Amino acid sequence: MSITLGIPSEAFAGETRVAATPDTAKKSIALGVEVLVEAGAGSGAGYPDEKYSEVGARIVDGSEAFFADIVFKVQSPSEEEISRLKQGAVYIGFIDISSDRPTLESLTNANISAIALERIPRISRAQSMDALSSQAGITGYRSVIEAAYYYGRFFPLMMTSAGSAKPAKVTILGAGVAGLQAIATAKRLGAQVFAYDVRPQVKEEIHSLGAKFIELDLGESGEGEGGYAKELSEAAKKKQEHLLTEELKTADIIISTAQIPGRKAPILITEEAVRGMREGSVIIDLAAASGGNCPLTKEDEIIKAYGVTLCGLTNLPALMPGDASAFYSRNLYNLLELIVTPNDQGSAALDVLQDEITADALVTHEGVVRQALLPGN
Ligand SMILES: NC(=O)c1ccc[n+]([C@@H]2O[C@H](COP(=O)([O-])OP(=O)(O)OC[C@H]3O[C@@H](n4cnc5c(N)ncnc54)[C@H](O)[C@@H]3O)[C@@H](O)[C@H]2O)c1
Repeated sequence: MSITLGIPSEAFAGETRVAATPDTAKKSIALGVEVLVEAGAGSGAGYPDEKYSEVGARIVDGSEAFFADIVFKVQSPSEEEISRLKQGAVYIGFIDISSDRPTLESLTNANISAIALERIPRISRAQSMDALSSQAGITGYRSVIEAAYYYGRFFPLMMTSAGSAKPAKVTILGAGVAGLQAIATAKRLGAQVFAYDVRPQVKEEIHSLGAKFIELDLGESGEGEGGYAKELSEAAKKKQEHLLTEELKTADIIISTAQIPGRKAPILITEEAVRGMREGSVIIDLAAASGGNCPLTKEDEIIKAYGVTLCGLTNLPALMPGDASAFYSRNLYNLLELIVTPNDQGSAALDVLQDEITADALVTHEGVVRQALLPGN
């Protein structure tokens, strides 16, 4: 009996991505795995059922896709979805491990070996499996496109016989994966780009993309462990808010991405800064899911405050489902290669612990929540 890989449809509102494309389905079949795709699973991303059938995948109903030996998904599984999984199955996808303890408990009770993409170690060998980064890059790109859509003016300097328009001033807060992609995209559209991050070592990367680094003297570094930022002291936070408020009043567009793993996002755009911005300016707050970098942000809403458009959409990759699914499913296929070993009979053996990358990202296994996730660790 060959190992089955299920690709169910995503039920989460607004989710258009799919966890395997016909291309990665074909590669998975070549590994000796039988691929079961729920009818219509790829249609929101531009991958119709026929394309999966053409490469040898079987189109099935949702129950069969969920009842596979391995299940690939995008959004964190709901209780109902977990109840449809087979005891002992392997589940790979985003799993909200920080705030979603019931999910972990349900996965444990169902004896699922769950690999959370948020836990893939950020080491060179795992870069091709790093779905957080592949999707953050898309988020950064799309944030600029959204900003350009809501901004009623030009990005580049425009000189015409009917007069000229000044270039837009775009300020990016937080120069991680999403922020750097936003800088590059805003530059390509011809804006004047400024960027700020609490980790001083990103200055060079910001300059190499042609943007200007905003330097603030906070009296301490925000450099944390593993390349991430750490939370600032209360005094430094106050200073940062004050210095940024003056700086941000002159921005036409702000794209803010600042996050600290496992914590509420820092406030960088005060209400006073928003009030000081020109009418028609735009803020895209990419930290909306973790509380927002602006206190006025409303999660998953686009609102107007003091004449400024404030966008708190939390799933921008779902607005680019073709490429987002292609990148995401390549990340997952690369993980599949680590846990599946093809044999001479055309099928394969499955082991989630044989590689340190999947072993590290395994959050539930054999009926227990893995040690590192228990309170106090
Ligand atoms: N495979 C790899 O080695 C790998 C892959 C991806 C990212 N990384 C690194 O991981 C790090 C985090 O990247 P990310 O995109 O996940 O970041 P993130 O989403 O955690 O945060 C976004 C940015 O916000 C910044 N930030 C946090 N608090 C701030 C504040 N108060 N003011 C201003 N900026 C603030 C952070 O420094 C970061 O650059 C980066 O160093 C990145 O290069 C490494």
